[in-house]
Order: sequence, then C-alpha cells, then structure tokens
Amino acid sequence: MTAQLIDGKAFAATVREKVAAHVSKLKADHDLTPGLAVVLVGEDPASQVYVRSKGKQTVEVGMKSVEHKLDRDTSEADLLALIKSLNADPTIHGILVQLPLPDHLDEDLVINSIDPAKDVDGFHISNVGLLGTGQKSMVPCTPLGCLMMLRDHHGSLSGLNAVVVGRSNIVGKPMAQLLLGDSCTVTIAHSRTKDLPDVVRGADIVVAAVGRPQMVPGDWIKPGATVIDVGINRIDAPERGEGKTRLVGDVDFDSCAAVAGAITPVPGGVGPMTIACLLANTLTACCRANQLEEPEGLTV
Ligand code: GUN
Repeated sequence: MTAQLIDGKAFAATVREKVAAHVSKLKADHDLTPGLAVVLVGEDPASQVYVRSKGKQTVEVGMKSVEHKLDRDTSEADLLALIKSLNADPTIHGILVQLPLPDHLDEDLVINSIDPAKDVDGFHISNVGLLGTGQKSMVPCTPLGCLMMLRDHHGSLSGLNAVVVGRSNIVGKPMAQLLLGDSCTVTIAHSRTKDLPDVVRGADIVVAAVGRPQMVPGDWIKPGATVIDVGINRIDAPERGEGKTRLVGDVDFDSCAAVAGAITPVPGGVGPMTIACLLANTLTACCRANQLEEPEGLTV
C-alpha cells in the first residue's frame, strides 16, 4: 500500500473533544445544555444500532439525549404530533428522525415538519436550499465529515477535480455542494454515467457513495488521488470461517490504496465522523438558538 490512511476514528475523537469542551463552557457560562432528540420508528436492526450509538456518544460529550422509539405502525399524525412537541421544546436543540421510515410514512413530509433550526441532519428543504445557495445552514453529517477530512488533508481544495459517485439526497448531492463551495470542479457520477472509469480517472478527489460493495477498483484511480469511501457494506467472508461476514466500502481498498495518495478505510474512516458531526451540528444549533458564538471548525 502506498496511500496515506486518513484515520476517521482518530479525527472523530478530536471533533468529540472539541464538542465536549464547548459544551462544558456553555454549561459553566450560560447554564445551557444542548439537547438532541432521536426518533426511531420500527425495529430495523441497523437503525437500532445507530440510534444506540448516537445516544451513548451524545451523553459522553455532556449533552442531553432523548430517544423516542415508536411502533412500526405509528400513524403519520402521531409522528407529526411528536415532532411538533419537540419543535416547541426549548431543551431540545436538535431533532433527528432515523431513516428509512416505514413505507406508510411520507419521508419528505416528516422531515419538512422539523423546525429547520433543529434539523441537525440538514435534510429539511430550507437547509438544502440554503446550502445550495452558499448560505449558512445545517449541513448533512456524513458529507460534513468528509469535507472536514479533505480540508485537513489538503488544506485548500480550490481548483481540484472532485468526482462524487452517487447522487443521494443524504450524501451525494450535499457532498457535491460542499465541494463546490470549496471551489472544486465537481462532477456527480451515477449508475447511468457513461464511461464511469474514465470520469473517475480524472479526479483528484473521489467520494464513493453508492452502496455497492467494492465497486471502484484501483485502476479507476488517478495516481496520488484522495479517495473518500462512504460505503458500509457487509459481505460474506468465508475466509474467516463458515457464516462469517466483514465490512467493506464502495471502493476496493487494496487496489485503490496501491494507487491513491490518501484513502479512508472501512471501518474507521467516514463512519465515525458521521456521529461526531451530528454532535457538532447539535452544538451549533444550540449556539445559534441562543445567539451565542459558534465553535470554530465544527461547521462550514
Ligand atoms: N439513515 C442512514 N443515514 C442517516 C442519516 O444520516 N440520518 C438519518 N436521519 N437517517 C439515516
């Protein structure tokens, strides 16, 4: 391997330390505790794991954590009523509704019922519009984490060619906006892109966010490029024994690491940064709600 490893686990720990330090200052100076409410509808096992981890880390940085676990068949009216009460609760500064929602619930309607100032996911249409027009907004956590690591590695991103593979509302599109905001020349590639290997070969920065295990091979990577792997895919690993599995990203790590200048591993790359940025966003929302100075370096 020739690429430098971008250690998201260590980076996330420094973000959490910064958040924790600012939270204790808010308490000491203003008797204020940032609060995050997480709403989970149904029993999706992966979502349950994420929600537990979010709650634990929220408490660890000194914030208030509230979890609302609702039955799978909760009505839209009941969910909207809960969000309304959280919007009105002055001790709650961030609201996150875990996605995906069960089919009978309208995801857009639910997300857009969250007060945009408390929308720590940055998914509300107002925040999407603010980000797209370069105004102050809540920024989606995973792309924010990717941008922090890219800025840390490169310093300035100005003029670099960035290719984002994947066009989801959660990662691909906001990632492209953030890179554009940092003056990259940005291409969003997706399943219908013609000559995808050649498009990726033109990139100084590749962000892979498609949800397809090991889809990007090393011979698509320009020598020296930076590769950010957003994918978290569980695949069978018979080499580890019968029935065993392992986590892999959307890029083929070994072949990409042999060519890239820097690369994020899976696990231990982008994943830990997402929750760290959720905590950072909750702190930012709390500071904004109370007209207090925002901590530096925790948002764009
Ligand atoms: N499900 C998968 N990723 C996310 C995320 O970033 N936010 C929410 N709310 N749900 C998710």
